[in-house]
Amino acid sequence: MTPALPPLGVGVVGFGWMGQVHSRAYVRLPHHYPDLPLQPRLVAVADTDAGRRAQATAMYGYAEAVDDWRALVAHPHVDVVSVAGPNFVHRDVAVAAAEAGKHVWVEKPVGRHLADTRAVVEAVRAAGVRSAVGFNYRNVPAVDLARRLVSDGRLGTVETVTVRLFSDYAAHPDGALSWRFDPEFAGTGVIGDLASHGLDLARHIVGESAGDISELVADSATFIPERPEPQPGAGSHYATATGGRTGPVGNEDHVSALLRFAGGARGVLESSRVAVGEQCTYGIEVHGDRGALAWDFRRMGELRVADDGAYIDAAWRTVFAGPGAGDFAVFQPGAGLAMGYDDLKVVEAERLVRSIAEDRPIGATVEDALAAATAADALVRSAAERRWVEV
Ligand SMILES: NC(=O)c1ccc[n+]([C@@H]2O[C@H](COP(=O)([O-])OP(=O)(O)OC[C@H]3O[C@@H](n4cnc5c(N)ncnc54)[C@H](O)[C@@H]3O)[C@@H](O)[C@H]2O)c1
Repeated sequence: MTPALPPLGVGVVGFGWMGQVHSRAYVRLPHHYPDLPLQPRLVAVADTDAGRRAQATAMYGYAEAVDDWRALVAHPHVDVVSVAGPNFVHRDVAVAAAEAGKHVWVEKPVGRHLADTRAVVEAVRAAGVRSAVGFNYRNVPAVDLARRLVSDGRLGTVETVTVRLFSDYAAHPDGALSWRFDPEFAGTGVIGDLASHGLDLARHIVGESAGDISELVADSATFIPERPEPQPGAGSHYATATGGRTGPVGNEDHVSALLRFAGGARGVLESSRVAVGEQCTYGIEVHGDRGALAWDFRRMGELRVADDGAYIDAAWRTVFAGPGAGDFAVFQPGAGLAMGYDDLKVVEAERLVRSIAEDRPIGATVEDALAAATAADALVRSAAERRWVEV
């Protein structure tokens, strides 16, 4: 008989969309990665909503569900804490967990603003615990192919990077005034929510060859300045509310920016949460002096590449990610079979668990969140001051 693996006790704070995706990822880990040296066990959930707590125990089999995250952090059988509540809880929970010697998996953007992210990073460094951050688009196999093409020089020297993250989740004027629209609870609006993913994706794909974003100039706008207050118990992201009182939206719906990379490349970043007709239109295009690539999340398994060596009239080909690209092979046996969003979180969980077992950083960590938060902070400063700023 195979000896039982050492258990890794999991605690999840915030059992909304992300808390549930993290939980499913832990459950699925042994199915996809049977050789992992630790066996995650769902120990406890903390959520202020009683319905969510009931769901956690009844449907996910959590042994305990508490309303105060402090009890979860102090739980002797919790070894790793998923910080999946709204942005305003990230800092307090992640710092307390690290100080208690627990590893952390913190959702992006890791706090409301740069100071929150820094506090989390300092606590993780001081405690010597391992961390993961929810920059899940890094885990897409086609993105792995893109990164390798750029790093191998197949596109030549990177000249331009275009990142666009457009969503319609807040496009309805009756979109409820959830925590996402309140700076006290969310910090920034679309900058932390979507642009943070784009900043990380650009750095992940071209950082090795083009360097980090060193300077930028940004503009931002709030197109829907008032929204109706939510109905009790309404989910946050896509929920609408009609009638009743309205309140002010306190952060930006849209941001656009010109970017300069340390190595000389130029970039354009644009992100909106109120873009009618756009559902998860998240993508990146990279143009080098000899080739180009394009990736779009809605066709996650495809990478478009123009690398036939022709400078003019170069032809595009579409590569379907398959075994050999990232972790594709642990999910599907052949190219063209579709992976899903939740699979990206399974990869993220694997990176974290292996990094705990091997006591070294693997995958996106809070240090990567700090890089994205530093660039996000520059977006905010530039838009406020209406000028180019250093990152
Ligand atoms: N990586 C990604 O692609 C991605 C996608 C969506 C959300 N997120 C991030 O995940 C986080 C959560 O977003 P979501 O969409 O799951 O939100 P959500 O509103 O669906 O869920 C948040 C949950 O936290 C609970 N909560 C609120 N205050 C709490 C507290 N003090 N203690 C414990 N629980 C508390 C709420 O009751 C709710 O169940 C955000 O930081 C968001 O930026 C990341």
